[in-house]
Amino acid sequence: MAKQASFTCTACGAVHSKWSGRCDACGEWNTIIEEAPLSAGPGKKALGAKRGAAIALTDLATKETPPPRSGSGIAELDRVLGGGLVPASATLVGGDPGIGKSTLLLQAAARFAEKGLKTLYISGEEATAQIRMRAARLGLTEAPVKLATATSLRDILTTLDSEAPGLVIIDSIQTMWVDTVDSAPGSVAQVRAAAHELTTFAKRKGCSVILVGHVTKEGQIAGPRVVEHMVDTVLYFEGERGHQFRILRSVKNRFGPADEIGVFEMTGRGLEEVSNPSELFLSGRGTPSPGSVVFAGIEGTRPLLVELQALVAPTTTAQPRRAVVGWDSARLAMILAVLEARCGIPFAGLDVYLNVAGGIKISEPAADLAVASALLSAREDIALPPEAAVFGEISLSGALRPVSQTENRLKEAQKLGFTSAIVPAGGKPGGAGGMRLDEYGDLTAFVGDIFGA
Ligand code: TYD
Ligand code: MG
Repeated sequence: MAKQASFTCTACGAVHSKWSGRCDACGEWNTIIEEAPLSAGPGKKALGAKRGAAIALTDLATKETPPPRSGSGIAELDRVLGGGLVPASATLVGGDPGIGKSTLLLQAAARFAEKGLKTLYISGEEATAQIRMRAARLGLTEAPVKLATATSLRDILTTLDSEAPGLVIIDSIQTMWVDTVDSAPGSVAQVRAAAHELTTFAKRKGCSVILVGHVTKEGQIAGPRVVEHMVDTVLYFEGERGHQFRILRSVKNRFGPADEIGVFEMTGRGLEEVSNPSELFLSGRGTPSPGSVVFAGIEGTRPLLVELQALVAPTTTAQPRRAVVGWDSARLAMILAVLEARCGIPFAGLDVYLNVAGGIKISEPAADLAVASALLSAREDIALPPEAAVFGEISLSGALRPVSQTENRLKEAQKLGFTSAIVPAGGKPGGAGGMRLDEYGDLTAFVGDIFGA
């Protein structure tokens, strides 16, 4: 049977039977392209004799324990990896072009190599001279890393076979091409085939691979999401334009917690670790003003204090604006509805702006109470006590629900000089550690107490 061409979304990899302007799977526009069919692969043969033999789980347990993880010594990176790099693992590092992926990985390569892991950095984007210049800028010229520039996967696998490194970094997966696949480098088929070859090689030879993937908005280049399912760990490197800090976030990790973050600052000499991010996010905080509230959050396993800012102003249009930066707009709509329905505080006719200062994105429901406080504080023009940190989840009934890791949140707040916290009742922290707790069972009580409404 003749193979038909298929239509694949370059953003998410979904396969469609016909072309359309918008991908049903991920909702992106202009990302669907026609692709040549995959190469035929092995023909149909009789069933093999021994392939894929099954082994009892208990038999596996008697084998020796796996070799330990390798640490890079960059604490922010090692934590996001779940405590270091697992041997023979495949990791994807995605991010927008120019965010600092190559910088991060060159620094990581140098540190892994210094720790005794044989490391090979393969670039398909820059010439060796350019990488050397970057290394000089980062102060890494003495690092025992091996560099190569190649884009043909056949060449790369040959090099890997002879060098037998413990870690190989591929920068970027979109520049690699496999000669058995009949489409342009960067296409979904090429990116998938290259990632597949590299990850199977890694598993077979016991070498770890790190693939770099550019996040693409549209066009003919496949995004990193098309290989997410093939790798063990998926990290995204994020940052806001105009801000110096960068966040490395694990969105999938077979060997550690997902949603862990590492915080870095981009400086003239590369990325520097930020070991106390709360300080970074709260620095630049002016005198306490209405609309500004400090939220004691948790990112992954780590507490993080951030400032939420709200502005509420009479609207000039028929449809009041609801603008959110760094938080979920559906969740904002919910909080506004609860404030209106349960506490009788309307926001109709008012524009609402909510901003998470510093450019970080938060997704925890634990921020609900802090968001409600910021909105009310802006609306009533009353500043919250400057020494108070806030957290708690709001349910649709208007009740406040305790959140996880109360103790860690309080400890972090105290470390940064906060002396009290506004929290849901019944959180049962193991001890407030000298902090004053203002506990509320529901939103109405809190609003009446703080804002006199
Ligand atoms: P890069 O690592 O090349 O990004 P990516 O690989 O994700 O495309 O980083 C590029 C940006 O980082 C560039 O705008 C310059 C900046 N940069 C610094 O600010 N300091 C440095 O030491 C380096 C090497 C880069
Ligand atoms: Mg790069």
